[in-house]
Amino acid sequence: MRVDTLLTNIGQLLPMDNTGPVKGRDMNDLAILENAAIGMKDGKVEWIGTAEEANDLNADRTIDAKGKLVTPGLVEPHTHLVFGGSREHEMALKQQGVPYLEILKNGGGILATVNATKQASYNDLLDKALFHLDRMAMHGITTVEAKSGYGLDKETELKQLKVAKAAGENHPLDLVSTYLGAHAIPPEYKKDPEAFLDSMSELFDQIKEEDLAEFVDIFTETGVFTVDQSRRYLQRAKDKGFAVKLHADEIDPLGGTKLAVEMGAISGDHLAVASDDGISQLAASSTIGVILPGTSFYLGKDTYARAREMIDAGAAVAISTDFNPGSSVTENLQLIMSIAALKLKMSPAEIWHAVTVNAAHAIGRGKEAGSIKVGRKADIVIWDAPNYMYIPYHYGVNHVNTVIKEGAVLYE
Ligand code: NIG
Ligand code: FE
Repeated sequence: MRVDTLLTNIGQLLPMDNTGPVKGRDMNDLAILENAAIGMKDGKVEWIGTAEEANDLNADRTIDAKGKLVTPGLVEPHTHLVFGGSREHEMALKQQGVPYLEILKNGGGILATVNATKQASYNDLLDKALFHLDRMAMHGITTVEAKSGYGLDKETELKQLKVAKAAGENHPLDLVSTYLGAHAIPPEYKKDPEAFLDSMSELFDQIKEEDLAEFVDIFTETGVFTVDQSRRYLQRAKDKGFAVKLHADEIDPLGGTKLAVEMGAISGDHLAVASDDGISQLAASSTIGVILPGTSFYLGKDTYARAREMIDAGAAVAISTDFNPGSSVTENLQLIMSIAALKLKMSPAEIWHAVTVNAAHAIGRGKEAGSIKVGRKADIVIWDAPNYMYIPYHYGVNHVNTVIKEGAVLYE
């Protein structure tokens, strides 16, 4: 057999080739191939076998993994990739104990980034998004979800979505786009959030026609949108053919987790303060819980999502950076893997499911990304690590040795 690239002498290979999202205690069962090799051809995985069997392959190029860990490229299922400016001045407010929602209420937070995003040109936003995508790639991510939500007017929301689309087209990473026009209430609609949601939903048709987003998301939170408003808005999105997501139960326990299940959302995200009922309904549903522990960490909270209970109850859980300029400012999903181990008490095996197969299913890419399987895109990371437990263990640094995107070395 002839292949373009042979990756051999893999110490531990995690294929993560489950047929669907991995739920509950199954998340702790990890298939590991030792002394493995992968043949790639035309950007896809052509062959998987042992290093000995690989000697019979005819390869144009051979990469020696030198006994290291090899996994699928990481899938990042929740980011606010496209935004103008930055908010480092809010750190002092946080240190003084000003709550996140209080900063927002006073016109800062998300609304500060909205102003900066309105002022930024299309090209500036695109350059900035590509910069952050580069950084994600360096940290081993090969597929990224990106939300709008820093426009809160039709023109700027469309600008953000078009930037995200161009970023996906101009960068080797795969990008999945989500419309989050319902991210905050802009000052001009303060007294009439329903009218604001009406106006944001008027973009649904154009977004569909121009293929600008696959998912519609909403921030269901105190001072933002209620459960009832969210239900109506998401139903309208579903009627237009969108799959839906929610920022649910992030700060106040409004019941967003239950709403995510009720709406048949592809994912319910955050879930930091989900109720007992919410957790058991999530576990019995096909909605994936996308947990963002970096946000709890970065907002200085003691409360973290009860991922342990969610998994023990049978839920499929993914984890993400929530990369954004306010509540979690990092592109490093490896750091989030450590926080998941330390604060969510997830096992290394659960964490690997959460950043590959389950993350891919949370953004509708379960059949393309998050696994190493014959016939699929060869999105592969070689780690400077002897085994899969090492990545969450050694925290705060980048363990990437080589990132391979569709069979080509993207970063080493
Ligand atoms: O996921 N919660 C709402 N949205 C983001 C934060 C956005 C921001 O602060 O700019 C989140 O935490
Ligand atoms: Fe978010």
